[in-house]
Amino acid sequence: MVIAKKYVVLNPFVGEPKKSDFKIVEEELAELQENEFLAEAAFISVDPYQRMKLGASFPCDMIGGQVAKVIESKNPDYPVGTWVMGHFGWRTHTITKPENEKFCMQKPYLHKLPDFGDLPVSLALGVCGRVGNTAYLGFTEICQPKAGETVVVSGAAGAVGSHVGQIAKILGCRVIGFAGTDEKCEWLIKELGFDYAGNYKTTDISKFLKDSAPNGVDCYFDNVGGELSTMVMSQMNQYGRVAVCGAISTYNETDPEKRKATILQPLIVSKQLKIEGFLVNRYADRTLEGIHQNLKWVKEGKLKYKEHVTDGFETAVDAFIGLFRGDNIGKSLVQVK
Ligand SMILES: NC(=O)c1ccc[n+]([C@@H]2O[C@H](COP(=O)([O-])OP(=O)(O)OC[C@H]3O[C@@H](n4cnc5c(N)ncnc54)[C@H](OP(=O)(O)O)[C@@H]3O)[C@@H](O)[C@H]2O)c1
Repeated sequence: MVIAKKYVVLNPFVGEPKKSDFKIVEEELAELQENEFLAEAAFISVDPYQRMKLGASFPCDMIGGQVAKVIESKNPDYPVGTWVMGHFGWRTHTITKPENEKFCMQKPYLHKLPDFGDLPVSLALGVCGRVGNTAYLGFTEICQPKAGETVVVSGAAGAVGSHVGQIAKILGCRVIGFAGTDEKCEWLIKELGFDYAGNYKTTDISKFLKDSAPNGVDCYFDNVGGELSTMVMSQMNQYGRVAVCGAISTYNETDPEKRKATILQPLIVSKQLKIEGFLVNRYADRTLEGIHQNLKWVKEGKLKYKEHVTDGFETAVDAFIGLFRGDNIGKSLVQVK
């Protein structure tokens, strides 16, 4: 008999998530049925969308991706020892079968890990997983960047943002990032090759953009939303393209006054901007293509990554809260085993 530990969310989040919103409970798992396998989590993923996507009724299980190893199996396609990436939630052990594993937009959300060679399996939750595909496919498909263009990325030192900026450099663009500390900005410039990086908490954003993008902005990859994004969009060129990936600056905001948006429509018309939101699951049928492209760039040394790993299943809530306080550089993960 296997006992799984799992996180239960007790009530809807109000403002920033709190430790008291969660409880860890134990669950006895049943015997394996035909076609099922038992997976043991090695890493669980900590992501901003988990703040937004819980079901309508509480208590409910905490959602989330994980990298896990098959430790028992009645499915010949998933023998013992197989590493998988699945959307099993924040839990230590899972019994499932492939046909059950659908998530956002009812797209399949389970795959076997490709051979990462010497690289850690945790990359399957970050640079060589859906986060990496959010950056690669979201940026290239929606922004359609061309060599020589100027690209701005917000949330630039996070998992998605740091990846987007590096792809923009690989493609020959000029890249400007915004992040929340000087240390993050220094990392973007010195380690990742961004041309400019500004601390959005201490910098005059409009002035910084005028100086760093004197000929205007062609592409904006938006991870944060809010006023920062309004300021970036106001300095875009004709036919500029905006990929709206996320709006983390708004996720915990409860003050209705602060949730009011600046009117952007006249600017969108006069600059003829194309603004498109997307969910990475739109590209679910290209999951492995994106992973292999990002893996190739990592192996060639063209794409660097940082992981913010906290140790132990019990640290997950602290890591989650930390996302909204900017604790992480790169991908936030919890090492379970
Ligand atoms: N569309 C999709 O399919 C998809 C998929 C994955 C992620 N996303 C979105 O992409 C964005 C980035 O996700 P991620 O996984 O890469 O997370 P992340 O950027 O690694 O972590 C979150 C970061 O957001 C920044 N942040 C927190 N509060 C902020 C605020 N009020 N204003 C500005 N920045 C703030 C913090 O960095 P600072 O220190 O810089 O503030 C923090 O480190 C999120 O909006 C997420 O929802 C969308």
